[in-house]
Formats: sequence, structure tokens, C-alpha cells
Amino acid sequence: MAKLKLAVLISGRGSNLQSLIEACRGLDFPAEIVQVISNVSGAGGLERANQAGLPNAVVDHTAFKSRDAFERDLDGILDRSGAELICLAGFMRLLSDKFVTARGDRIINIHPSLLPTFKGLDVHQRAIDAGVRFSGCTVHFVRPDMDCGPIIAQAVVPVYGNDDAATLAARVLKQEHIIYPLAVKFIAEDRITVKNERVIIENSSINVASTINPPPQY
Ligand code: GRF
Repeated sequence: MAKLKLAVLISGRGSNLQSLIEACRGLDFPAEIVQVISNVSGAGGLERANQAGLPNAVVDHTAFKSRDAFERDLDGILDRSGAELICLAGFMRLLSDKFVTARGDRIINIHPSLLPTFKGLDVHQRAIDAGVRFSGCTVHFVRPDMDCGPIIAQAVVPVYGNDDAATLAARVLKQEHIIYPLAVKFIAEDRITVKNERVIIENSSINVASTINPPPQY
């Protein structure tokens, strides 16, 4: 069966890009990366794309007069690449309503919190400050509002009393690298439907009653 063609949009170090690169190396993995785009020249993720021999481009938003012009350039590269699904992976630009709605359910994002809590930036410090016992990460379809859209997959991690933003970020990031390829796989296998802005996944079930932090027995 033909593999789903992905474009991955980045702004930084690209560890989530790397997790997708590695997943796509699996012969049975139903997707392949056809294009990497960074809006920041010199982003670490570009080096990862080069190492993997992937077509990559820089579309520096500061070089454009308007967001419209920036997005027209993005559009051109995406169209020529033949990408069928756009994966935002640490892409730090907001995309316009027009860009997002034109693509329907063909843009996904990964965010390092359990959405809909802690949208936006500085999420780990805000989670610690709020005293939550769990945090995590979310892969979701993109909608015009920031960090909104039907949730495809989430992973939960405990927050410990001695965590700082860096230790929590590292714990969450490990899970990001698991759930992003997983969400792509579900989409590529055509197992996902969005109904009333909720994602229904065919043949998936969970068998965990609960996770409690602090643990009731210690
Ligand atoms: C990740 O934590 C992702 O969830 C967020 O930005 C970070 C990007 O990290 N949107 P990387 O560039 O993929 O390493």
C-alpha cells in the first residue's frame, strides 16, 4: 500500500522530527517524510533532515512582508512536495485561519501538555506552579485557535515534588517521541474519524483502570 506522505514543519532542535524519521525507517511504517520545512535558518532539525537525506527548506518568516506572503511560499513548497499530512513539530509560528481551514484535518501538532490545559508557552513551569500531579503531551488536529483541535493521542507522566521545568520537560519529551509516530500511524492506516470534533479510533482500546500520584501504597 502507498505510504502517507508527510511534511514536517519545525523551528528548532527537531527531536520530534527525529522520532518521525526513525519511525518512517521501519519497513512496515505506513508513512514517509517527503519534505521538512523550518522557518528558522540554522534550526538543529535541518541537520537531522540532511543526515536522513530528506528534502528540506527554510522559509524564514522575517523575510516576508506579511503572513499571507509567508504562507503562500509555504503553500508552494508543500504543494510541490506532494505532502498529504502536515506535522507541526515544534513549529513556533501561528498559521492563519485561511491556511488551516483550507487543509481540513490534514495538519496535526504535538503539544507538551495534557490539552486543553496549559495551552501556549512555558507549559512545564506553569504545570509545576499549578501543583498538578500529572502532566503529559497531546497530538491533535490543528484548528485556527492555538493548541486547539480534536485530540488524537495523549500520554501522561507524573510530576514529582522535586521537578523543575527541565526535568519535567525531559520526561514529557520521551513520551512525545512515542505518541507522535503513533498518531501518524493511526491516520496513515485510515483508522481515524473526526465526529463532532472528537476523534474516534477504530480498533483501539485501553485497559488501565487508573494511575494515582502519589501512589496509594508505598
Ligand atoms: C516539543 O516539546 C513540542 O511538543 C513543542 O515544542 C517542542 C519541540 O521540540 N511543540 P523538538 O524541536 O521536537 O525537539
